[in-house]
Amino acid sequence: MGKLSLIATLFRHPLLLLKLVKLSKSAGMYMDALVADHFRKILSPLDSPEKSKTFKQIIEEQGYSNEPLFEELIAILIDNKFITNLGEKIWLSKPISKDIIEQTEKKLSPEIVDAFATFLDSTKKAISDRLINKPIDDFDAGELRIQWNIALRGEFYRLQRRKAFELTNLKTWVTKRKPPLTFLDYGCGSGDGTRQLYEYLNKIGIEFNIEACDVSEGLMEIAEEDETLELPIYYFSLKEKNPPENHYDAIFASQVIHWIQDPTKLIADMKSWLKPGGIIFGVQSNISKRIYKIDLFIRLLGSQGFPTLNNLQSWFKNNDMSLEYQELFGIFKATK
Ligand SMILES: C[S@@+](CC[C@H](N)C(=O)[O-])C[C@H]1O[C@@H](n2cnc3c(N)ncnc32)[C@H](O)[C@@H]1O
Repeated sequence: MGKLSLIATLFRHPLLLLKLVKLSKSAGMYMDALVADHFRKILSPLDSPEKSKTFKQIIEEQGYSNEPLFEELIAILIDNKFITNLGEKIWLSKPISKDIIEQTEKKLSPEIVDAFATFLDSTKKAISDRLINKPIDDFDAGELRIQWNIALRGEFYRLQRRKAFELTNLKTWVTKRKPPLTFLDYGCGSGDGTRQLYEYLNKIGIEFNIEACDVSEGLMEIAEEDETLELPIYYFSLKEKNPPENHYDAIFASQVIHWIQDPTKLIADMKSWLKPGGIIFGVQSNISKRIYKIDLFIRLLGSQGFPTLNNLQSWFKNNDMSLEYQELFGIFKATK
């Protein structure tokens, strides 16, 4: 998005910038507290330069095998002035309170409590697991699917999805297609976005069908049996079958592509599932300093991390698709 259109968008949404800044700041504070809490016991004996330890000593003592992650987390503690470093030697420069998470939660905006605090135990476990390179839990293992279900109903996810519908100009676009139109919600999760898409299309008043799929059967169970129970949506598991070729007018993917190991291959597959003139649209944040801590959070939970703008563009370019992308909302539309 060019500078001018970014400014124009911000004029149209005066509260948005404030909201975005607040949201990412709170997410950052929350992740900082979780990282500090993880290292609290390990670092508390190192309370003076004389008692400092090197990275290598800590890594060996703790049995960490993921050194890049260790260094990334230590950098966060240095940034927050919890520790001081002299080369590879570190020591504690201020105590880490044992209530640091509770104290931080009290300062957070309600969106963040909705979106992140529900994941507290899973994120704590993920930090420990990733530092020793333990395999990633399934997307819907244990309580995770309940936590995702709560998070995905968050206000910001909804705003981004709505903006994606608007970017696509669905209202006009659908009138140029032969009804009934068939939509696929790829990586539908627990169905909040599927419902949002259904309601949006329903309001336009066209004839349409929605199909939805995911690898997570646990999340789809919530979608089918709870979130969209009364709606005529056809769900299928990607563990059982792939979407059919040449079948969809449009594929919607909301914050999904960065969970997939080979996004370029996914876009190639999606392209083959589209009818001629079909589109892929949805939400895909790209990495920036502002959302670095959100990126860390999703990487800990098993995502590949948000792409750079260049990477994101290359997924589509390598598939000869033209891409329209708005960085502010992380929304896109791609055409064949
Ligand atoms: C952040 S959630 C977004 C869910 C939903 N699109 C929404 O907006 O509420 C990411 C989704 O990607 C799904 N996912 C992860 N890996 C996947 C894969 N390899 N193929 C398809 N979906 C995948 C997850 O199960 C999860 O439902």
